[in-house]
Amino acid sequence: MKTTHQIAIIGGTGRAGRYLAQKALESGYGVRMLVRNPEKLIYHDDRIQTITGDARDVSSIRTLLDGCNVVINTFGQPVKALPLYSEITSNVLAVMSEYGIRRYIGVTGGSLNVDGDRKSLVNRVASKFFEICSAK
Ligand SMILES: NC(=O)c1ccc[n+]([C@@H]2O[C@H](COP(=O)([O-])OP(=O)(O)OC[C@H]3O[C@@H](n4cnc5c(N)ncnc54)[C@H](OP(=O)(O)O)[C@@H]3O)[C@@H](O)[C@H]2O)c1
Repeated sequence: MKTTHQIAIIGGTGRAGRYLAQKALESGYGVRMLVRNPEKLIYHDDRIQTITGDARDVSSIRTLLDGCNVVINTFGQPVKALPLYSEITSNVLAVMSEYGIRRYIGVTGGSLNVDGDRKSLVNRVASKFFEICSAK
């Protein structure tokens, strides 16, 4: 299949990221991944371009997003680190704006609430439960 979309994935060494990378390749998309530690990659495919870097670093995001038209952010908060999701998402959205990339897909936990959510009652209860359990 001819590749028409190049997808940038943040968090490709993680569970969600490697699953989505595999599905993207199966669907004929090109995949570029930002990885902090390439040796942690357990899903290998010669078609994946890996960029070594940290999502807190805007220059790494610029390198990753160069030539891409879709971004999937599967960043997962490392245990014991300061909360990073907002900082990383801001970096990604800023570089997307610079490059004119319009499609962003964020993968997050169920406890996150954002404007425009359309969660069912069950999801709202589960979300509250996760929020209480993960509170420090
Ligand atoms: N797995 C599930 O079943 C599931 C279900 C629902 C929602 N989610 C949500 O999906 C997201 C990802 O979950 P996951 O289970 O895939 O997490 P995970 O396996 O812990 O993977 C997290 C990924 O984030 C990367 N990362 C962490 N800090 C980074 C940084 N500073 N720069 C670049 N990359 C960084 C990690 O890279 P390193 O390898 O370098 O640490 C890793 O690739 C989370 O928001 C989670 O709440 C997951």
